[in-house]
Amino acid sequence: MKQADQNNDDAVQAPPLLRELTDMTRRRMAAEAQVLPLPSKTRIFTISNQKGGVGKTTTVVNLASALAKYGARVLVIDLDPQGNASTALGVEHREGTPSVYDVIVGETPMEDVVQHSPEAEGLFCIPATIDLAGAEIELVSMVAREQRLSRALQEYLSEVDFDYVFVDCPPSLGLLTINAFVAATEVLIPIQCEYYALEGLSQLLKNIQLIEKHLNPKLKLSTIILTMYDQRTNLAHQVAADVREHFPKETLDTVIPRSVRISEAPSYGQSVITYDYGSSGSLAYLEAAVEIARRGVPR
Ligand SMILES: Nc1ncnc2c1ncn2[C@@H]1O[C@H](COP(=O)(O)OP(=O)(O)OP(=O)(O)O)[C@@H](O)[C@H]1O
Ligand SMILES: [Mg+2]
Repeated sequence: MKQADQNNDDAVQAPPLLRELTDMTRRRMAAEAQVLPLPSKTRIFTISNQKGGVGKTTTVVNLASALAKYGARVLVIDLDPQGNASTALGVEHREGTPSVYDVIVGETPMEDVVQHSPEAEGLFCIPATIDLAGAEIELVSMVAREQRLSRALQEYLSEVDFDYVFVDCPPSLGLLTINAFVAATEVLIPIQCEYYALEGLSQLLKNIQLIEKHLNPKLKLSTIILTMYDQRTNLAHQVAADVREHFPKETLDTVIPRSVRISEAPSYGQSVITYDYGSSGSLAYLEAAVEIARRGVPR
């Protein structure tokens, strides 16, 4: 018998836990062996879903950290007054800290508020503070109110190189989210594998189309990522199958499992990759990063 067949046979006969461990070891070795291509132009993602708590921030933080660990230069813009992405990336964002608020409502250049994240060498964050909570209202009467983030980002990118930019949005469609849509070239939607997952999605897609038509012709839904996947439930399988049927090209093969380690990491000001490198959640986000980098920009 050839060595490969022998290994295969071992895996089939092994008890489930051992099989899972063998599988994870194999996947981890594959993920670690990857050398990722860097994009020729900065890829700017907005992570959006007006549903709350579906894993937007978790996805931003962990994908950004994973890509940075693969050697990319990555910028995270926290556009949610809750400041969860800033917390998880271990950057200062107490009230009064120079932040994305000063960039959007004031005219402070991004380079004056950007902070390095201790997560990885090439990872930077523009933090959000609670000051941003008033920005939705302040923006209403401002000139170019939909383009303020985009202009500031383009100015910054003309001086500093980044491979990826991720904008973490609040769970609502207000002027902050619209600013993110106008600044981005790609939309990434995290979908939680639960019963109401697809509800509200058609409205989100309509909004993306409206933005594309009126404010940003470059915007495209490029990526859907299934989050908080519990493989023991039929419901999760069903939701995943539905999403794949509707969005076969956009949906990543990688699914993010429901994992306690993923939810614990932010309270240590870390991504799950730094917090518990050997966990299944860390592996899944590394694999998702590989997929995004390998797929490249959709045509
Ligand atoms: N794969 C996962 N496994 C377990 N818990 C998770 C996972 N992904 C996210 N969570 C937890 O679920 C909660 C919501 O996640 P997250 O904050 O990323 O969602 P969100 O869409 O950004 O929320 P909001 O709409 O409030 O901004 C958090 O407590 C987070 O730690
Ligand atoms: Mg969030």
